Amino acid sequence: MYVCLCKGITDTQIRAAVQDGASSLREVNRNLGVASQCGKCGIMAKEIVQESLNDL
Ligand code: FES
Repeated sequence: MYVCLCKGITDTQIRAAVQDGASSLREVNRNLGVASQCGKCGIMAKEIVQESLNDL
């Protein structure tokens, strides 16, 4: 499912970034650019990062 429409980023990509070592929304943002335009996806992206970290 698309989380960030501005950048076309899916929840799968965010989870993969966490699997690859990102440990915060800031790091996922640095890797993928999520939440770097309108910012509307920030809350959901943060939740997905948190969930993914909990699953590690
Ligand atoms: Fe992610 Fe706009 S939807 S920055």
